[in-house]
Amino acid sequence: MIRCGTDIIEVERIKDGIENIGDKFLNRIYTETEIEYCNSKKVQKYQSFAGRFAAKEAIFKALTDVIENKYKIEWKDFEIINNEEGKPLVIINNENIKNKIKDIDISISHCKSYAQAVCIAEIM
Ligand SMILES: CC(C)(COP(=O)(O)OP(=O)(O)OC[C@H]1O[C@@H](n2cnc3c(N)ncnc32)[C@H](O)[C@@H]1OP(=O)(O)O)[C@@H](O)C(=O)NCCC(=O)NCCS
Repeated sequence: MIRCGTDIIEVERIKDGIENIGDKFLNRIYTETEIEYCNSKKVQKYQSFAGRFAAKEAIFKALTDVIENKYKIEWKDFEIINNEEGKPLVIINNENIKNKIKDIDISISHCKSYAQAVCIAEIM
């Protein structure tokens, strides 16, 4: 069974969250590795934070059928890392979900004002 999900977000919304709520916002949504990666982007960091936010929303949408209790899912159950070529990859940190996924892939894109992502997952 193949499932897809997509999401688009205004970069400004994420920037507001980071500037107004700060670490509480960052640590709820992003892992340490993600925060380090996005901050390394300097002037484009908010685009990268927004891209990861959109990617996680896209993952949630693609995995709706396999997430039994959506209220128990946490943002950090999914971590986005980039390979040496820059391609984003998903690490699933929740064993219950991981066991149900055969393969998962995402793609992220961002411009000045928007970030968007697509997820395609092959479910066991
Ligand atoms: C890698 C590349 C595709 C990124 O394009 P871009 O328009 O700058 O990218 P966007 O701003 O839309 O998206 C950036 C995201 O792309 C993703 N990305 C970067 N490199 C990637 C790669 N090699 N493969 C897949 N995704 C990649 C990342 O998720 C990145 O965001 P992040 O760093 O915050 O995680 C581009 O730099 C490139 O090398 N293009 C090759 C162009 C080309 O050869 N075209 C010829 C015909 S296809």
